[in-house]
Amino acid sequence: MLVALHWLLALGLIATLVYGFFGMAPRPNSDPQKIGMLRLHMAGGMLLFAMMLVRLIVRMSTSHPPPATSGTPWLDRGARAMHVAFYVLVLLMATTGLATAILAGLNEIVFAGSGAALPTDLAVYPTRVAHGYIAWTLTALITLHIFAACYHSFVRNDGLSARMGFGSRRG
Ligand code: HEM
Repeated sequence: MLVALHWLLALGLIATLVYGFFGMAPRPNSDPQKIGMLRLHMAGGMLLFAMMLVRLIVRMSTSHPPPATSGTPWLDRGARAMHVAFYVLVLLMATTGLATAILAGLNEIVFAGSGAALPTDLAVYPTRVAHGYIAWTLTALITLHIFAACYHSFVRNDGLSARMGFGSRRG
């Protein structure tokens, strides 16, 4: 369950970030397709948040392999902080996105089909600005996470990445 959720979340988060940065953000709110794009993004974002909560609950309530070490204490502390940061950042992504939607009345426009026009620019809401900065921070963290996985696989060659596979637990 943890492994499946890890990969579903990895794919979902990367797809949502790419869609947000390159699909939605550059498109003006006057574009007729924007409401449909926001519907997909907002529903997908809430689903990812729910999956992250399920993952946290499963993580806390099941047994898992002993903590892995990189051989360097400060790197181990960094790795622990990185994993906590993932939960915090996804929580902040969802709450700032939801807060923007509530402030701008997007729920009625996007999901209830009120027929009202979208606000011209969502960046007037501080929560929208924060959503963008947190998205960049999450992108940086995912990049760092991928580098760390490569470090274990190709530099230390310790088989740690096998924990994220469905086979036996090593590393
Ligand atoms: C983990 C989940 C989420 C991720 C990774 C994510 C990612 C993004 C990204 C990358 C952008 C563009 C940022 C920029 O260019 O400054 C964006 C915009 C936006 N997101 Fe999210 N988001 C998530 C969840 C949500 C949720 C749950 C909602 C609302 C319920 C939401 C509502 C919005 C809105 C309204 C915009 C602004 C679109 C615009 O200005 O055109 N997001 N999101």
